[in-house]
Amino acid sequence: MAFKMMYILLVVLVVEINSKAGAILDAHYYDKTCPQAEDIINQAVRNATIYDPKVPARILRMFFHDCFIRGCDASVLLDSTPENKAEKDGPPNVSLAAFYVIDDAKTKLEQSCPKTVSCADTLAIAARDVVVLSGGPHWTVLKGRKDGRTSIANETLNLPAPSSNTSQLIQSFSQRSLSTKDLVALSGGHTLGFSHCSSFEARLRNFSATHDADPSFDPQFAADLKKKCPKPNSDRNAGEFLDSTSSVFDNDYYRRILVGKGVFVSDQSLFADYRTRWIVEAFARDQGLFFKEFADSMVRLGNVGVKESGEVRVNCRVVN
Ligand code: HEM
Ligand SMILES: *[C@@H]1O[C@H](CO)[C@@H](O)[C@H](O)[C@H]1NC(C)=O
Ligand SMILES: *[C@@H]1O[C@H](CO)[C@@H](O)[C@H](O)[C@H]1NC(C)=O
Ligand SMILES: *[C@@H]1O[C@H](CO)[C@@H](O)[C@H](O)[C@H]1NC(C)=O
Ligand SMILES: *[C@@H]1O[C@H](CO)[C@@H](O)[C@H](O)[C@H]1NC(C)=O
Ligand SMILES: *[C@@H]1O[C@H](CO)[C@@H](O)[C@H](O)[C@H]1NC(C)=O
Repeated sequence: MAFKMMYILLVVLVVEINSKAGAILDAHYYDKTCPQAEDIINQAVRNATIYDPKVPARILRMFFHDCFIRGCDASVLLDSTPENKAEKDGPPNVSLAAFYVIDDAKTKLEQSCPKTVSCADTLAIAARDVVVLSGGPHWTVLKGRKDGRTSIANETLNLPAPSSNTSQLIQSFSQRSLSTKDLVALSGGHTLGFSHCSSFEARLRNFSATHDADPSFDPQFAADLKKKCPKPNSDRNAGEFLDSTSSVFDNDYYRRILVGKGVFVSDQSLFADYRTRWIVEAFARDQGLFFKEFADSMVRLGNVGVKESGEVRVNCRVVN
């Protein structure tokens, strides 16, 4: 109870401080120019998910990636050109996929309302839809983002790394005006999806002078992961799901962190650090609270670095 009170106080404070952020976005942005925009995007996302259940995780990750590099401006969607290597060909791109879903939605948007709905808004709406489709919370997506014209491969190095500790994560999020609560709530995105061995295998062997495996791992879980990620590893697709219900949006991610089953250092460190531990505990205890805060933090993520001027790309892969 005391935790929850403290928590609510913190949230109120954060909301106060940030109440002016993102003023340019609008829930009704396309009401007159493309009232069917959200239906069209929802259709494309639903259809793709029927054929490939990995689509929700892909799209959610894509939105995070987009917003953290150059703001939510669809820079992650641009293809490389002969002169320029784009973000999607940058270093940590192993889990970037399902771009075709956004292409699909955008093709239909262009048929119904040409040159109106930005790629950045399309991705923001799709990210909400995949969470809802997976059983998570619904929120109103604010719209009016413009699309950027620049995408640079090595800027993806500015994404937080799975080896980051909580201090590094707090810094990375605060550089984007996101709070510690946002960090913990949005990390809950790892309730969906999968990771390749490469993102966590440094925790499995020769971790430190005194420990072979990262001591914050549950020992049995570490042993299981070692089996899934043998060394040498001939299976490029080997890895582990990020929680035990990887296609259901729920609070299992937090419950696993409590017992040493966070897959990344970045996940598990949220429990080790006093600044985030109590929030992890609150979300593990109360799924409704997690849903409410995740929705709130996704709106805030969607405000990061939004461009007021720019273009509405016709094809999300190339600048106009
Ligand atoms: C806090 C910092 C974060 C770090 C260090 C991080 C790191 C990673 C890494 C390393 C992977 C796996 C890549 C691989 O396949 O090997 C991954 C997957 C994923 N991340 Fe994060 N992430 C973070 C935050 C987020 C946020 C904020 C979201 C969305 C709200 C998110 C959503 C996802 C999803 C859904 C996947 C699974 C993708 C799939 O299965 O295709 N992550 N993340
Ligand atoms: C549905 O998705 C499948 C597989 O991606 C695709 O081939 C088909 O064209 C899509 N249909 C519609 C109506 O979007
Ligand atoms: C990841 O980057 C590599 C090298 O730049 C590229 O060949 C590959 O197609 C990229 N993967 C995706 C999914 O874009
Ligand atoms: C990206 O590469 C350029 C030149 O190749 C370099 O100047 C810049 O510092 C690099 N940026 C990052 C984030 O590594
Ligand atoms: C987090 O990592 C940085 C860089 O490796 C390190 O300097 C710092 O001491 C670490 N902080 C904590 C709390 O472990
Ligand atoms: C473990 O790390 C030490 C020191 O970095 C190195 O000398 C040793 O070869 C490593 N062992 C294995 C099995 O990789």
